[in-house]
Parts: sequence; C-alpha cells; structure tokens
Amino acid sequence: MNQKYFIISLLVFFFLYVEKSHGCHPSGAQITSCTEDCPQITNASFTRGKLNITVYTYPDYPPEAFGHFTFKDDQGHEWRFFKKPIFVNDHSCNHKGDYENNPYTSYWNFDSNQTPKETWFDIWLAVYVDCSLSPWGGAEIDCNSYNLHYRGWQP
Ligand SMILES: *[C@@H]1O[C@H](CO)[C@@H](O)[C@H](O)[C@H]1NC(C)=O
Ligand SMILES: *[C@@H]1O[C@H](CO)[C@@H](O)[C@H](O)[C@H]1NC(C)=O
Repeated sequence: MNQKYFIISLLVFFFLYVEKSHGCHPSGAQITSCTEDCPQITNASFTRGKLNITVYTYPDYPPEAFGHFTFKDDQGHEWRFFKKPIFVNDHSCNHKGDYENNPYTSYWNFDSNQTPKETWFDIWLAVYVDCSLSPWGGAEIDCNSYNLHYRGWQP
C-alpha cells in the first residue's frame, strides 16, 4: 500500500467516524397536501412473525426511510416496529444507494404470537423521500415525509 492510498483510507475512516458520531438520521417535513399520485402502501401480507410490505412513492423518488411503523388487526394483535425513522432501501445518510427500488418490498420481523390470521388489519407508516444529499447537513437529513395508511385482509 503506498502513501497515497494510506492517506485516502485515513480520510475515509475519519469521514465514517464523523458520520457515525453524528448519529445521522432522517428528519421530515411532512407533506399533507398530496392529492394525486401520492405515495402508498400497495400491498402487505403476513407470514408467521413476518410482514411483507410493498411501498410505492413516485417516479425518481424511491422510499428512503420509514418511521412510525405500526400494525394492528381487528382481533387485537398489534406491533410497533419502531417510531424514530430509519433509512431503508439501500439509502444511508446523505448517500443515495445503487439499489433504491420503487416499488420497494421489504420484510420485517415481529413477535410471531402477534401474527394476524383471517382478519382485517391496518398498517401505519411514514415514508421519507427526496432526502437531502448535501454533505453539510449534519446529523439531521432533511427529507419529505408522507403518512401512509393501508387496510387489508389477511387470509
Ligand atoms: C399481495 O401480496 C400477496 C402475497 O404475495 C398476494 O397473495 C396478493 O395477491 C397481493 N395482493 C395484491 C392486491 O397485489
Ligand atoms: C411479498 O410481496 C410481493 C409484492 O406483493 C410479492 O411479489 C412477493 O411474492 C411476496 N413474498 C412473499 C414471501 O409473500
């Protein structure tokens, strides 16, 4: 390894360290005015202890973070996956991933005793899009967020 690479590695490590120590997280200006072609949960289904959920936002703006992620069924099963937003779909901090899908399908584990069966259920999720790519943003990454709701039948 020559000196140049060593210095570059050092800079990369320093950058990663600073980023980590800032606890980089998504932060949202909530959009409530959307009336057409709005982000939506297009499908969701449960297998034992696992939720399969598909979210579609709109062209060129894939889902980049989720927050306030909860489900509840009509028989009283419920689960809060998390409240504070986290980056998803290969997005991290102010870096666009190479594999940001739209629609984006993901799987989430929960206590299998809470698995809905033969019931209607609701899911609530805040989706974050268009997150700032600015390197000077600090720990809070500005995104636009939408509150989504989905009601479906689990056979
Ligand atoms: C939703 O996904 C489930 C599981 O893959 C599938 O059986 C069902 O047909 C899908 N529903 C819709 C409306 O696409
Ligand atoms: C998850 O959902 C997607 C979209 O509805 C579907 O294509 C896929 O088959 C589902 N996977 C499982 C394991 O249910």
